[in-house]
Amino acid sequence: MNTQPNVFTDVFSPARLGPVTLRNRIIKAATFEAATPNALVTDDLINYHRLPAAGGVGMTTVAYCAVAPGGRTDGWQIWMRPEAVPGLRRLTDAIHAEGAAISAQIGHAGPVANARTNKAPALAPVRFFNPLSMRFARKATRDDIAEVTRAHANAARLAVDSGFDAVEVHLGHNYLASSFLSPLLNRRKDEFGGSLENRAKVARGVVRAVRDAVGDQIAVTAKLNMTDGVRAGIPMDESIQTAKWLEEDGGLDALELTAGSSLVNPLYLFHGDAPIKEFAGAFKPPLSWGIRMTGKKFFREYPYREAFLLDKARRFRAELTMPLILLGGITNRETMDLAMAEGFDFVAMGRALLAEPDLINRIADDGEARSVRSACTHCNKCMATIYTHTHCVVTGMPG
Ligand SMILES: Cc1cc2nc3c(=O)[nH]c(=O)nc-3n(C[C@H](O)[C@H](O)[C@H](O)COP(=O)(O)O)c2cc1C
Repeated sequence: MNTQPNVFTDVFSPARLGPVTLRNRIIKAATFEAATPNALVTDDLINYHRLPAAGGVGMTTVAYCAVAPGGRTDGWQIWMRPEAVPGLRRLTDAIHAEGAAISAQIGHAGPVANARTNKAPALAPVRFFNPLSMRFARKATRDDIAEVTRAHANAARLAVDSGFDAVEVHLGHNYLASSFLSPLLNRRKDEFGGSLENRAKVARGVVRAVRDAVGDQIAVTAKLNMTDGVRAGIPMDESIQTAKWLEEDGGLDALELTAGSSLVNPLYLFHGDAPIKEFAGAFKPPLSWGIRMTGKKFFREYPYREAFLLDKARRFRAELTMPLILLGGITNRETMDLAMAEGFDFVAMGRALLAEPDLINRIADDGEARSVRSACTHCNKCMATIYTHTHCVVTGMPG
C-alpha cells in the first residue's frame, strides 16, 4: 500500500525560476501581439501585457522579440537592438509595477520568417519556399549559423538591459532551431544535418550562447517541440533526447513543452476549429484564394480538449528532472491542479488569457468553488488577428 502523503503543489504558491521568484506558477504564454508597427514598443503593447499582469499571472511573455531583422515572422515585429531598449524598459517597469515578472521570447523564425515584409532574406537548413511570403528562404551557411548564435546572445544581453526577468528561447514550431531539428526540413549533409546530434547543434548552441551571455542575471527557459505533428517531422523519441541534452548542458531553468509546425501543421499547436475564412480574409488575392482552396488540408483540425498536450508531456516529465512548463488547453483550476499533480512546475496559458486577462484573479477569488470557466471557445479566430491587432474575437480583449 502506498503510504506516501499526497504532496500537492498549490499553483498559486510562489516558485523559483532560476534566479527569479514568481508569485505563482502561472505564465502567460507567448501570443504574438501585432502591436509594434515600427518594430518598437507602443502603449498598446504595454497595455496588452499590463492586463494579464494586473490580472494575476506570475509572469507574462512578450512575443516576439526576434534576434535579427530577418528572423521576424513579419516586418513590424520587434527585433532586439539598442534602439528598442528604452521602450522595452517602459514595458518591463509597467509589468513589475503590477507585481508580475516578464519574459522576452527570443528567437529566429528561420523558414517561417517573412522575407518580403522583413526586407531581409530568411534562413532555413536548406533552400525552402514560404508560400505566405512568396519568397525562398536561403540555405544557412556556417557563418549564418554563427551569426544567428551570436545574435541570440546579444538579444539576451539586451533583455537584461531592458529589465526582463527571463528570456524564452524559441526552439519550437519549425522556426529556425526547430527546422534544424526536423528530419523533414533539415536535409543537410554537413555537420548540422543527418544524425540527431548534428541536427540539435543549433538548438543547443543558441541556448548555450544565451546562458553564457546572461549568467544568472535572469532566468533562461526554452520552448521546445515535443513533436511537429507531421510525418517525417521531429518525432517524440528524438525530442526527448534533445531535451535530455539541454538538461545536461545546464543552460535552462525550465523547459516549456509545445507541439506543431507554423509551416506545415499550425492547428496542432492549438487544437479546436480551423479559422479558414478569417485567415484567408487576412490576405489579399491570390494568396487568399489559395488559402480558401487548400485551407482544409493546411489547417488540419484536432479536437480540442483540456490539457491536450498532457499525454505527450508526461513522457518528458518521466525522463527529465528539470522544471517543466505544461502548455496547451489549460483554462481552469482543475486543469492547473492536474498539471501540478502530474509533476509540472508551471503552467503556461495562451488563448484563455487573451480572451480574459483577469482570469487568474477570478480563479484565485473563486477558491474552493472552482466554478470559473474560460470564455475561450477555441474557435482560433484570434490566429487570423495577428496580421492586424491580436485579440480575442469572442470577448474583444485585450481591446
Ligand atoms: C494569437 C496567437 C499568437 C501566438 N503567437 C505565438 C508566438 O509568437 N510564439 C509562440 O511560441 N507561440 C505563439 N502562440 C502559441 C501559444 O503560445 C500556445 O502555444 C498555444 O496557443 C497553445 O496554448 P493555449 O491552449 O493555452 O492557447 C500563439 C497563439 C495564439 C493564439
